[in-house]
Amino acid sequence: MDYFADTIRNAIRTVPDWPKPGVAFRDITTVLQDRTAFRKLVDAFVHRYHDQKIDAIAAIDARGFIIGAPLAYELNAGLVLVRKKGKLPFDTLVEDYELEYGTASVELHKDAFKPGDKVVLVDDLIATGGTMLAASRLIRRIGAEIVEVSAMIDLPDLGGSRKLREEGLNVYTVCQFE
Ligand code: PRP
Ligand code: ADE
Repeated sequence: MDYFADTIRNAIRTVPDWPKPGVAFRDITTVLQDRTAFRKLVDAFVHRYHDQKIDAIAAIDARGFIIGAPLAYELNAGLVLVRKKGKLPFDTLVEDYELEYGTASVELHKDAFKPGDKVVLVDDLIATGGTMLAASRLIRRIGAEIVEVSAMIDLPDLGGSRKLREEGLNVYTVCQFE
């Protein structure tokens, strides 16, 4: 899959010491504003799932929405929004997860899936994996089946993708930054 990985990896901008000293921020805006790279990014995910029966793409607030929407459209699947707490208007389920300092929460409408729906969960990046794991728990609580969790970028040194695999999830990432 290097055909996709090299283009996407080269289009990501790394901003040192942002938002704080020591962090190498992987900035995806440079992928999105490059028509060739953005098309290839969506194509990478479409290529991965086009021959499977996928009922819905679940996308994580906010950068996951950017990938999830065109992917759902191309796969003729539904698009479900996993949102930060307090943004969804109907009955919800909530999962809390750890941040470096404190906790955060993600939320999902209770009627977002039918039991047994086959779902791909999408975000831009896996760091500690906390966000993806919390979102996965929400989807499983509704009784939908997670075919795979996927992201544009994996930061394997932070252990998130390993943790997700240990939870029994299939994990796909387009490119990695060691
Ligand atoms: C970032 C990123 C992932 C998450 C990854 O989102 O888009 O969702 O952090 O980190 P983790 O693997 O350690 O959980 P952020 O919460 O910054 O939200 P944003 O997409 O609204 O910028
Ligand atoms: N979210 C968590 N860690 C990140 C990083 N290094 N770059 C971009 N987004 C992130």
